[in-house]
Amino acid sequence: MRQQWFDEARFGMFVHFGLYSTAARHEWVQNYERLTDAEYRQYFDHFDPDRFDARALARQAKRAGMRYVVLTTKHHEGFALWDSALTDFTSVTACGRDLVREYVDALRAEGLRVGFYHSVIDWHHPDFTIDWNHPRRGDDDIAAQNAGRDMGRYREFLHGQVRELLTGYGEIDYLFFDFTYPEPREGLAGKGPEDWAAAELLAMCRELQPNMLVNDRLGIPADFVTPEQYQPTSPLTRDGEPLVWEACQTMNGSWGYHRDNTDQKSVDLLVRMLADSVSMNGNMLLNIGPDGRGAIAPRDTAALDEIGEWMALHERAIVGAGHADFTPPREGVYTRGGDRLYLHLFTWPLGFVHLPGLAGKVGYARLLHDGSWLRTTAADPAQVADLMTPEGEPEGTLTVHLPVARPDVVLPVVELTLID
Ligand code: GLC
Repeated sequence: MRQQWFDEARFGMFVHFGLYSTAARHEWVQNYERLTDAEYRQYFDHFDPDRFDARALARQAKRAGMRYVVLTTKHHEGFALWDSALTDFTSVTACGRDLVREYVDALRAEGLRVGFYHSVIDWHHPDFTIDWNHPRRGDDDIAAQNAGRDMGRYREFLHGQVRELLTGYGEIDYLFFDFTYPEPREGLAGKGPEDWAAAELLAMCRELQPNMLVNDRLGIPADFVTPEQYQPTSPLTRDGEPLVWEACQTMNGSWGYHRDNTDQKSVDLLVRMLADSVSMNGNMLLNIGPDGRGAIAPRDTAALDEIGEWMALHERAIVGAGHADFTPPREGVYTRGGDRLYLHLFTWPLGFVHLPGLAGKVGYARLLHDGSWLRTTAADPAQVADLMTPEGEPEGTLTVHLPVARPDVVLPVVELTLID
């Protein structure tokens, strides 16, 4: 029951915001450029999120049809977006603002579910040992540096900060831990569940927020799995059992604001990814990276507005919908909500779309965006192809007759009312 809202929501917003947003060249910039704390400090000293407007962000998510939002409370850089008593590396010390407080208040004002992202990695913390992901991984005295670091103290810090977040900001609906990398690489250690004391950390989450969903990135099983930056091709299962899953996706390949990145995905692709995920009983968490002043980038606003236009007409084919046990035609995918089957037409065919096994099972068909009726006919397998007559489709096929002109929506959807 913990996840019923999640299964229904289907669509959420990921928000990556931190000091890396002012560096404006990916949230891993400290790692990629092996920046020292001193080199990175300028982003803290000049952190001024004057255009971070949590209410506007919440309203943007709502307009896009998103039902929950997930904000980075702390990313690998170690910068806390809340008033943590355990470090002075926070948004309160940097600019006097508890951004997590502003965020949770804004989401609740808009009736959205509250999600936190929290990195178990912390490249700023003096006890976090240097490993193959650390910005100091190329130093020639790693062993000496690590000898002075105490992961036990870091675990206390990590658990203490999670406790602050789960006791200081009301009911939290969702927690996305990130991430575990147990395998050694290039002669350096990784970090596994034992480095986080993952079982104890998860137990604390359950104790403090019993209804909160927790993901799988502590390195131990929890409530849902998290494919990232790729699309599964069928409903996810483990040992034959269905998995609750959410694919997190970026607009352009970068989670944090990356000014010069022009790999922006088309809205057509993003909406197809959303429908595709729901057709496989998954959620999609679509990311935005607010810029160096905390504003949503215009390219992301434009995309979210266009997605919102589509969702305003097609929401019922996504929210509360899921996998349908019918074989879809080659032109698209099905989602199902109750007695409605939704055919998302990734390509627009000429005149007809043929639906295997649906003859006699559909009482009414229409285009969802404008509610316009569509003619349906059952296949006649005996029909022989002639000059202007196509060959009959297999027995049991339902043919839906379509207008030649593709509807002027990002992704046309045919709604079929199923009858017993
Ligand atoms: C990966 C990236 C991290 C990002 C996360 C989002 O773990 O390392 O930067 O926040 O994916 O799922």
